Amino acid sequence: MTDAKKSATLTIGDQSYALPIFSPTAGPDVIDIRKLYGEAGVFTYDPGFTSTASCDSTITFIDGGKGELLHRGYPIDQLASKSHYLEICYLLLYGELPTAAALEDFELTITRHTMLHEQMVNFFRGFRRDAHPMAIMVGVVGAMSAFYHDSTDIADPQQREIASHRLIAKMPTIAAWAYKYSIGQPFVYPRNDLDYAANFLHMCFAVPAEEYHVDPILSRAMDRIFILHADHEQNASTSTVRLASSSGANPFACIAAGIACLWGPAHGGANQACLEMLKEIGTVDRIPEFIARAKDKDDPFRLMGFGHRVYKNFDPRATVMKQSADEVLDLLGIENNPLLQVAKELERIALEDEYFAEKKLFPNVDFYSGIILEAMGFTTSMFTPIFALSRTVGWISQWKEMIADPQNKIGRPRQLYLGETARDYVDIENR
Ligand code: SDX
Repeated sequence: MTDAKKSATLTIGDQSYALPIFSPTAGPDVIDIRKLYGEAGVFTYDPGFTSTASCDSTITFIDGGKGELLHRGYPIDQLASKSHYLEICYLLLYGELPTAAALEDFELTITRHTMLHEQMVNFFRGFRRDAHPMAIMVGVVGAMSAFYHDSTDIADPQQREIASHRLIAKMPTIAAWAYKYSIGQPFVYPRNDLDYAANFLHMCFAVPAEEYHVDPILSRAMDRIFILHADHEQNASTSTVRLASSSGANPFACIAAGIACLWGPAHGGANQACLEMLKEIGTVDRIPEFIARAKDKDDPFRLMGFGHRVYKNFDPRATVMKQSADEVLDLLGIENNPLLQVAKELERIALEDEYFAEKKLFPNVDFYSGIILEAMGFTTSMFTPIFALSRTVGWISQWKEMIADPQNKIGRPRQLYLGETARDYVDIENR
């Protein structure tokens, strides 16, 4: 934590309170209100935490006005073009880009943790075949604490390290098996001779009846999608993981809570909702109808894949994703993909509309990702599990940072109470 170099003065009635101000290495200053209730007897009020910093962190920084996203200081567009997902996992976990030897060692460690305890297969079989893969992921990841007892003691740094590696390594297997289960195909085990993204594609699309060769360009596109979803400051699911962790819950329970939060259509579920919206629009000529609905205050409809709490400019991930969509569809020979045409025209029209300009609504990471994933062969129900798989390293990195923070304490927000004041019980005969 930095030292306060200046302070703010809060005046309530005839009382003034000095509140320390901390300056970050990037982004807005923060006003430290930790002593406010003790000194002034008042709470601050910020539903949705639009103006609240919940922690200090050194992992990821977003400049919403510039459309900038940095992981340990490295811009996302450079990482997406020059790095690969496991190297970025190392960067997020340990703070620096690895040497060649450290990267090789890390990749071998992750590779050697990709298998699941064989008895966990029974968990998958307990679900209906039409269960949403996110429901399966929440259940199976939460259940990992029942199988990996030797990595649940969060006070032990070694156990925290093993739990981190197990979660990063096993999420592709869990996601792939949830997919296989939903389509009635047998599970495909991880292969140590394949890299992280290729292994995931192989577990999803291989069948015992024949060899499956992973197309290296699709594997690169998959790895890039993992990179673009890896971490994103204190978003809703990361904040959920931090809050769950603040009670001392084991890492598997905390990540299961993050998966559950990510599922919502306002968050990680937007990629599935966006593709379903593009299919509902269907053709370019119907776009104005949906733009009108998005602007209608009486219509709850929102353009899925548009808008963001922090970005008030282009989401830099959407820019990279859009380039990747063109590449993947060209590779697959899906010329003039109707959904991509609708998406590009929708983006063009929306960005010319003063409603979206005034509210600074731009495409976000979820706007193009579904088009790529569908072209690669995934069902829409697999879009959010792939987001969850990718974000696991972000959740884990933030979880590790929080536990190692000496200021770490249980999260316990207060409220603005508008309910009844104390009153006596009324017997039923008198009501
Ligand atoms: C992710 O936080 C993160 O970093 C998340 C994420 C990550 O990597 O972890 O980036 C991933 O969740 C991306 C967002 C995916 N969600 C969607 O695409 C769903 C559609 N988007 C919206 O629901 C919305 O934009 C949010 C939830 C993303 C952001 O909502 P905010 O910040 O609470 O903004 P808001 O709802 O207060 O909207 C501000 C105004 C409102 O109008 P007014 O009440 O001021 O008149 O903009 C309007 C909203 O009605 N608005 C939209 C809109 N998004 C906001 N209008 C139409 N379509 C939209 N998509």
